[in-house]
Amino acid sequence: MINKIGIIGAGTMGSGIAAASAISGFSTFLYDLFPESVDKAFSAIKKGWQKLEEKGKLNADKRNAAEGNLQKAAELEGLADCDIIIEAAVENIELKKDLYKKLDKISKPEAILATNTSSFSITSISTAVKNNPGRVIGMHFFNPANIMKLVEVIKGEFTSEDTVIAVAELCKKMGKVPVLCKDTPAFIVNRVARAFYGESLKILGEESLDPALIDTIMKEEGSFAMGPFELMDLIGIDVNLSVTKSVYEAFFYDQKYKPSPIQQKMVDSGLLGRKTGQGFYKY
Ligand SMILES: NC(=O)c1ccc[n+]([C@@H]2O[C@H](COP(=O)([O-])OP(=O)(O)OC[C@H]3O[C@@H](n4cnc5c(N)ncnc54)[C@H](O)[C@@H]3O)[C@@H](O)[C@H]2O)c1
Repeated sequence: MINKIGIIGAGTMGSGIAAASAISGFSTFLYDLFPESVDKAFSAIKKGWQKLEEKGKLNADKRNAAEGNLQKAAELEGLADCDIIIEAAVENIELKKDLYKKLDKISKPEAILATNTSSFSITSISTAVKNNPGRVIGMHFFNPANIMKLVEVIKGEFTSEDTVIAVAELCKKMGKVPVLCKDTPAFIVNRVARAFYGESLKILGEESLDPALIDTIMKEEGSFAMGPFELMDLIGIDVNLSVTKSVYEAFFYDQKYKPSPIQQKMVDSGLLGRKTGQGFYKY
């Protein structure tokens, strides 16, 4: 039975997952290596709920309850008695494995360990867990995680059926739609989306078109909800590049997944999209 949810990483995804968890009635503990990121996430989440209340989409009782559910964990050990820990730290395999080694030691042995990785193998991450690796699973939310319904539930080689069932049920309790995926590089959506980003970046480089023009064409004539450049800015240019690099490597450097120098230059320059105030657009 899942009552207490721990979340690691208070960035774009961790804060959205925390909001979705707390509003669904779960006692929610948010941890980040940098405590100021948790403070920033809490104020953004609360501001979002306040706006919803002002628009009449959330009543005061529910907002107060959700705020009461949201708690800060000052250190990783603060997640020790959580029933599930959802990891949404940066997309770096060594960092994630290191975190899972620590979680193996501090978590309850029956606690589920879910990763929000966009591209890494769940089986590979689970090898860092010696104590019941069947509890390691992929739980891939989409951005913004408090709004988007889809969650890819990824079963690694060692993930138990009980873990899959518990996570699928949890998704439904959070108002999400779980879709069971195999442990293949980037799973379903991110793999399909590689071409959306990759080809757009190629066109940008080859034809020197304005990103806004490409976005407008894709939205107005192609019926996409967002254009590729708006979407990359929302995701984070650094996150998008890390995912592309990981998929490129996982498919043995298949040229169709080759990362773009445009993205690399933006990351090197700190132009990471919405979160830094500038990416393809200024915010
Ligand atoms: N951005 C997206 O659209 C998106 C969508 C789906 C999945 N994801 C995945 O979610 C994860 C997080 O992505 P994000 O966009 O939220 O990144 P982000 O850069 O916005 O946030 C990452 C957070 O992790 C924290 N962190 C780094 N190392 C840590 C550690 N050792 N312990 C605790 N916290 C640590 C950072 O301080 C930061 O606040 C990645 O694996 C990414 O691939 C991202």
